[in-house]
Order: sequence, then structure tokens, then C-alpha cells
Amino acid sequence: MALLHRDRRARDRLADAAVEAYRADPEHLAPEYRFFPQPLHEPYSARFNAFRGQLGDAQGVPRSDKAGRRRDVERQFRFFDAPIGLIFTMDRRLEWASFICYGCFLQNIMLAARARGLDTCPQQIWSLQYAVLREHLDIPEGEMVVAGMSLGYADDSLPENNMALRRLELEEFVSVIEA
Ligand SMILES: Cc1cc2nc3c(=O)[nH]c(=O)nc-3n(C[C@H](O)[C@H](O)[C@H](O)COP(=O)(O)O)c2cc1C
Repeated sequence: MALLHRDRRARDRLADAAVEAYRADPEHLAPEYRFFPQPLHEPYSARFNAFRGQLGDAQGVPRSDKAGRRRDVERQFRFFDAPIGLIFTMDRRLEWASFICYGCFLQNIMLAARARGLDTCPQQIWSLQYAVLREHLDIPEGEMVVAGMSLGYADDSLPENNMALRRLELEEFVSVIEA
């Protein structure tokens, strides 16, 4: 299920509530489904930290700048001021296989947006706000909040939108089997 709110004031109220919930307990908001194993093992841990470091450098927000990082998270809960904010939920009785389908569904929306000259940012972080979302959007208990997504036009003047993320070399994740 995807939710799209047309009422700007209702959306602002939702964003305010999400920011307030985050400010009240920034370290303990947890998603509705597990994001990462604890602790995160290699090579994923190093990749994740490299990404975080690269993003922080681009934004000029070092890891030690807690206030700066929190400000950045708060922007997430305002959909980065994009004109459209989407929330995605899934029937929680479904199994892991449905997450594959759901990822394809999200990707298709992102590709369809690009084809129309629009930009997106998928935001798994919205799953941390399931309580606020359930309250403000009437999401039934049987639906799990999978992600959010900002939809609009990217601000190309922002350094984080111009980051060249390091890509793995093909050999690092592909095994070629010679016939
Ligand atoms: C499944 C998924 C979840 C994501 N969740 C977030 C998020 O919560 N907040 C955010 O700012 N970006 C999120 N992103 C975007 C990534 O941080 C990154 O900006 C994006 O994947 C970069 O695009 P690229 O892979 O084409 O370089 C997510 C991306 C994916 C694929």
C-alpha cells in the first residue's frame, strides 16, 4: 500500500510530529523490521562506514557533530521539502520473498519518476516513525511501514546530490564462470 497525502497542512502536522518524536528520543527510535544484524559484519560494516563518511564529508558534517547530524535526520522527516512525500506499507503476514517484490516496486516508481524528469529519494528511515505514521495516516496494525520516499526535483546545488559514490569493481561481486 502506498499513501499519498494531498493536504499540505496535514503533511506538515505529520512532519512536525515525526521531528518531535525524533527529538524526544533520537537514539532509540527503532524500525518496524530489522535493518542490519547487530553487530554489522564485514564487508558491509566497512562499506556502510565509508558511505557515512563520504556523506558527512560532502555535507561538511563530521561524525562528531551530533547536532549537525540530527538536523540532517530532521530534514528526512520533512521529506527534504519535496512537494510529494510517499509512505509505503506492506501486509505484515507476507514473507521475506515479498521484500524482493517490494524493492522492485520501489525501483519502478523511481525509474518512472526519472522518465518524467522527476527525482526521488527512497527513505527507509521512515520505518522508524511507524507509531507517528500509524496515528496520523490511519495505517492499520496489520500493515508494516516499509519506507518513505521524497518525490520532486533534486537540488543540484547540494553537495550530497553531487557525490560520486564509490562503486565496487565488477570482479568484487561477480563470479564469471567460463564455459
Ligand atoms: C533501500 C534504500 C533505502 C534508503 N533509505 C534512505 C534513507 O532512509 N534516507 C536517505 O537519505 N537515503 C536513503 N537511501 C538513498 C541512499 O542513501 C543513496 O542516496 C542512494 O541509494 C544513492 O543512489 P545511488 O545508489 O544511485 O548512488 C536509500 C536507498 C535505498 C536503495
